[in-house]
Amino acid sequence: MDILLLNGPNLNMLGKREPETYGHQTLDDIVSDLTTLADATGVRLQHFQSNAEHALIDRIHQALGTIDAIIINPGAFTHTSIALRDALLSVNIPFIEVHLSNIHAREPFRHHSYLSDVAAGVILGLGATGYELALTAATKLISSNP
Ligand code: DQA
Repeated sequence: MDILLLNGPNLNMLGKREPETYGHQTLDDIVSDLTTLADATGVRLQHFQSNAEHALIDRIHQALGTIDAIIINPGAFTHTSIALRDALLSVNIPFIEVHLSNIHAREPFRHHSYLSDVAAGVILGLGATGYELALTAATKLISSNP
């Protein structure tokens, strides 16, 4: 089982970035914990972070035929990117949308996601734990969907 973890813009700044909203863990910490969890469950986890929309789209296209599920925190592209939505639909790989913060408890412009209605599931507001829950859910999803 191959799962791709994608993180969008500004998530490379985790740990330094608004820690009261996004926590103190760095992205490296999160990816390292998640890799340990993946290893323990026989999942091969790949990770890619970019601040560029086109780079995320290219990585999604490359996932075709090699990746069974995608976990994505699209950052601010959540609220703006029809292109990211179209890329995910184009490869037809099930994906789980993750947000560290509860976007519905924040500014109105964060309440809408261009991805949520086509996601297999959405996890938000639980900080870094959300990525762990998403990994568990994605693993179950692809095991029951051979
Ligand atoms: C975020 C929420 C987005 O609104 C924001 O632009 C981010 C992070 C989250 O993880 O809570 O960059 O996706």
